Amino acid sequence: MTDHQAWTRKDLITIEDLSREELEAIFSMAAAFKETLTRSQKKLPSLRGKTIVNLFLEPSTRTRVAFEIASKRLSADVVTITSQASSLVKGETLRDTALNIQSLNADLLVIRHSAPGSPLYLSRLLRIPVINAGDGAHEHPTQALLDTFTLREKLGNLQGKKVTILGDILFSRVARSNIWALRKLGADVTLAGPATLVPKTFESLGVTVLHDLKSALADADAIMLLRIQHERQSAIHFPSLGEYTSMFGLNKRRAAWLKPDAIIMHPGPINRGVEIDSDLADSDRSVILEQVTNGIVCRMAVLLLCASTQAISQQPDTA
Ligand code: CP
Repeated sequence: MTDHQAWTRKDLITIEDLSREELEAIFSMAAAFKETLTRSQKKLPSLRGKTIVNLFLEPSTRTRVAFEIASKRLSADVVTITSQASSLVKGETLRDTALNIQSLNADLLVIRHSAPGSPLYLSRLLRIPVINAGDGAHEHPTQALLDTFTLREKLGNLQGKKVTILGDILFSRVARSNIWALRKLGADVTLAGPATLVPKTFESLGVTVLHDLKSALADADAIMLLRIQHERQSAIHFPSLGEYTSMFGLNKRRAAWLKPDAIIMHPGPINRGVEIDSDLADSDRSVILEQVTNGIVCRMAVLLLCASTQAISQQPDTA
């Protein structure tokens, strides 16, 4: 089965929705694109003549720039709109903004929004494909794709591999998307951190919850760190950042609890000296910047697969 045959979706809204075959289709196409990154001519003609609009209504560096570069590598025209530079600040609704973008002949919309469900809402409203670039604490599907793509490069098949996610799980869309992706790929997932940010209820997703850091690190093949997402917290979940760091921050002493070949990951942005010490973030076992680079090819694959489904659905019926 080709990557295009395995993928029949107009939109990418969640990892929860995807089958293992769909994940494999994305990885297979992303791996093929990765080979093109080493060429002097990196541009491919696949989306020439298409216009991609990035509607980023929350701050972003990695996701926004990676989607822009991915679009350009596929020869699409790309327009980025941020909240302050849009008519949303004049009272326009998200619905009207999206319908206007579609009427301006956009072929695909990438959206980041603080409200969970907004990408799904737009995908039902619009003819054009919609890609979720992060919706509140719900999902961040392309982050999980680039994380699991990187893990497969480093660890091979993820069946039975142990991945620990440490930090603010409760408010993390990255954690939710990664839990879905890792479980579908057969990995064993442990969530770790303070009980207020890592409640036992997550065990219903087929993961282990541990509040003892040493046990959570002991047999991990990879540790994925998360920052404290203050922007989504409306109550106090720990006394102070200093106290969080003193109990759950990854430092040299605690990293010695990891297996010698365990890798360190972080979706970014990093808060150095809070969830991770600077020297560990920059160490040989950190793959943080490789994750960022893999974000380009994973997003190229998602853009092309969603755009191709749309192109097929618009072909005239000649039967
Ligand atoms: N990982 C991530 O989503 O980073 P940005 O917020 O910079 O896009």
